[in-house]
Amino acid sequence: MSINFKDYVASVPDFPEVGVTFRDISPLMSDGEAYAAATDEIVAYAKDRGVEMIVGPEARGFIVGCPVAYKLGVGFAPARKKGKLPRPTVSASYGLEYGQSTLYMHKDAVKPGQRVLVTDDLLATGGTIAATIKMVEELGGIVVGTAFLIELNDLNGREKIKDYDIFKLMDY
Ligand code: PRP
Ligand code: ADE
Repeated sequence: MSINFKDYVASVPDFPEVGVTFRDISPLMSDGEAYAAATDEIVAYAKDRGVEMIVGPEARGFIVGCPVAYKLGVGFAPARKKGKLPRPTVSASYGLEYGQSTLYMHKDAVKPGQRVLVTDDLLATGGTIAATIKMVEELGGIVVGTAFLIELNDLNGREKIKDYDIFKLMDY
């Protein structure tokens, strides 16, 4: 039986600020069957693209990317928020649907030439994923795809990553 992933997303109006509809993936994560099915779809996509490494931004990119990495038998590298990584880093700043931020990666997180899949729960303005891709490429990685649970069409984030392949399970 195929799963309707949208049944596992809670849409919350006016969070974290008025005018934003927050797409909460917690129900999907808390259902073992739905979480595994979502993971398996991304694993199949990653296999097709010869992925050797997963990179995901804090925090929800970890939730999507880590089980995919485990299932593929490849590594996972986090892109983290300020003040979290103890060794030398690269960084990239970006604007959000609601705010501004900077992400960091360890300089040895990705090996030159490594085929990388960048994962996150959601593509909104595309700022987070574009910043993550920028760091992966600065480290010499080859971004062979991006994978999301959700794409928010109105925010047109795919425009920021138009040179990259996009896999997503749902859109709004
Ligand atoms: C959310 C979400 C994506 C990003 C998408 O993360 O998990 O990473 O925003 O927005 P964008 O496409 O406009 O960049 P958030 O920064 O809220 O952090 P969190 O995962 O730690 O909650
Ligand atoms: N990150 C950016 N925009 C979001 C939204 N509308 N819902 C959940 N996470 C988000």
